[in-house]
Amino acid sequence: MKNIKISLLGLGVVGSKLLDYVRENGSELSRRLEVQLSIDKVFVRDVAKRRAVDVSDLILTNDPYEAVKDGDIVVECLGGSGAQQTREIVLSAIKAQKAVIMSSKKCLALYGREITDAVRENQTYFRYDATVGGCIPVSSVLESMGKCEKINKIYGICNATSNYILDEMQNNSTYASALQKAKEKGFAENDPGDDVDGFDALYKSVILAGFGMGHWIDCDTIAPTSIKSITAEDFCKARQKESAIKPIFSVENKDGRYSCFVGPSAVSRDSILASVKGSNNMIVISSSESGERAFYGQGAGAKPTASAMFDDLVKTIKEIRH
Ligand SMILES: NC(=O)c1ccc[n+]([C@@H]2O[C@H](COP(=O)([O-])OP(=O)(O)OC[C@H]3O[C@@H](n4cnc5c(N)ncnc54)[C@H](OP(=O)(O)O)[C@@H]3O)[C@@H](O)[C@H]2O)c1
Repeated sequence: MKNIKISLLGLGVVGSKLLDYVRENGSELSRRLEVQLSIDKVFVRDVAKRRAVDVSDLILTNDPYEAVKDGDIVVECLGGSGAQQTREIVLSAIKAQKAVIMSSKKCLALYGREITDAVRENQTYFRYDATVGGCIPVSSVLESMGKCEKINKIYGICNATSNYILDEMQNNSTYASALQKAKEKGFAENDPGDDVDGFDALYKSVILAGFGMGHWIDCDTIAPTSIKSITAEDFCKARQKESAIKPIFSVENKDGRYSCFVGPSAVSRDSILASVKGSNNMIVISSSESGERAFYGQGAGAKPTASAMFDDLVKTIKEIRH
């Protein structure tokens, strides 16, 4: 039976949930796939920190390269704003021909071209479903469409925090009270800047264009519009026109010219985008042969994100086995 070692980078909200899933489902997975699966080393910033999960059988290290060295599959769940540090760790893992599963959307959006080039050059495995769309298995959809379809446009709603806040404001809440409610429900982080100002959705749009259209948009060339720019008057006008204001993203390829929009936009109340509520996401893919296809599901939170990573882990083990 083949031994497969997992190196886990990060044991925060997502990493801890993923560890739970591996512990709960690992032996069944090992039996089904005929592998001996283990998590040995885990990279964290502070090895002495009290953890929400039992770490007594794990080796915690504050040296990411030490964790990467011993694993066959490197699962990255790193937080913080250190996209550059994450890039270096991920590239070192790829160059050592480890299979890599990523969750850091900012790092992948900023360095996607370099990372995917390195994956190709080093002929290793790479998965990224946790970076965009939560539980929507969008990478599998994009891979399966690559055969005869040309993807012209990908659009929808991919930020739960902004979606929830705009829905609340549509029902007469102020921005401040809607944000407070979003925090209480766990839809918003303490610092919601990247979410409400559109950067989170921008990173996801760039990743979707990169994998869906083969074109990596430079994040610095796109200025997202913050939902904070929306006023009570905007909601009033939208209501009069039977519309709702939703946090929309869109990337489009028109004859090789790429455009990207991220920001609040009025959509008809009858449209499928208007029906996307709370923490849900919708990704609509428009392609040459099949027209539009829409994918819907929970987009935020530890459970859908860690579940997407667990699915990536299963796919990666199957690839390694074959
Ligand atoms: N939470 C979600 O719903 C969600 C959804 C989709 C994608 N993601 C992505 O998943 C990744 C992990 O998110 P999370 O919510 O699990 O983050 P988190 O709770 O803040 O955990 C981050 C982990 O990274 C470790 N770490 C190592 N170096 C760090 C540094 N320089 N700054 C901050 N943390 C550092 C931390 O170590 P210590 O534990 O020792 O502090 C911690 O274990 C992020 O890239 C996020 O964008 C999250």
